[in-house]
Amino acid sequence: MLKYAESWRTSKNPWEDWIGAYEDLRGEFARFINAQPEEVAIVTSASAGINPIANAIAFDGGRDKVVMSEYEFPTMGQIWLAQQSRGAKIQFLDGVNNTVPAECYAAAIDEQTAIVPLTQVSFINGYRSDVAAITKIAHSRGALVFFDGFQDCGTRPIDVKALDVDFFVTGTLKYLLGPPGIGFLYVRRELIESLSPTITSWMAQRDVFAYKTKCLDPAPVARRFEGGSPSIPNVYLARPALDLLNGIGMQNVAAQIERLTRAFIEGARDLRIKSKTPASSVGPLTVLCSKDAPAMTARLIERGFVVSTRHDGVRFSFHVYNNLDDVRATLRALEDNLDLMVRT
Ligand SMILES: Cc1ncc(COP(=O)(O)O)c(C=O)c1O
Repeated sequence: MLKYAESWRTSKNPWEDWIGAYEDLRGEFARFINAQPEEVAIVTSASAGINPIANAIAFDGGRDKVVMSEYEFPTMGQIWLAQQSRGAKIQFLDGVNNTVPAECYAAAIDEQTAIVPLTQVSFINGYRSDVAAITKIAHSRGALVFFDGFQDCGTRPIDVKALDVDFFVTGTLKYLLGPPGIGFLYVRRELIESLSPTITSWMAQRDVFAYKTKCLDPAPVARRFEGGSPSIPNVYLARPALDLLNGIGMQNVAAQIERLTRAFIEGARDLRIKSKTPASSVGPLTVLCSKDAPAMTARLIERGFVVSTRHDGVRFSFHVYNNLDDVRATLRALEDNLDLMVRT
């Protein structure tokens, strides 16, 4: 932030400096997910990445269905529901014991399905989608996959090419250790120019500095999905966190999160606390059932823990900066408040 403030105050040509930092961040994030910089749009939120894609899909040619699980983040449901006025038919898949098996997707995805929005890890119960199986099913029926990595990106290596997803979106606020107000949209190279959203901007044009008000000429790269002037302070804030995570090594980050999550889930099981998250989880999110989640959260916050609730679940998550002492302290706090937890 100081670097940004300094550039704002003293730079002879701040826009040039800022766009340099902006393009550097695009390249760095592309490397982070094994994509090309041309396949990455920098956006102000995950929603700002999902919207232009939803808006660019025609829902014609016999493909008007959108199939997603009820465990998607609300913005994913709401943005696709908003496309109903453009002909989209939205089908939500019911969860089965806090999971949505690939078979449920297999039963719903058909030749009329345009796209399958898919969360990597669900915000509501920590459930990890079977992305390989679901992507294979979707592609075999000609449907696209829109992967939402917000609840996982920054916790392990990610390779969008190996996953074979068509779109990927995330923000920096959670495990990417960055600020709110900045995120990334990946669009598979071959799809970019086939999508022409009516949501656009001057920064989305082929030649940004052509200043041709009477000419609409979207960039042939993922920048065509971007809004207007970028959120530059957030560009400066997002970059050091990526460097930090890369410096530690994403395999090491993943291993530490897995170790802590397993210890936590085991400890919660020993305390006979009901969990929404499967016992086999490698993290990062574990959601435990509470009889009064707001009251439980208030007690934990009082003791210095940073936790949040979603419906009747209290959400715990660990990152690479946590250690086993943190897990033990959390379990002790749970043990002291068992009256507020649902027991098995
Ligand atoms: C899975 C998922 N997607 C998206 C978001 C956020 O979307 P946006 O960046 O539009 O606020 C969140 C935030 O918690 C999330 O958990």
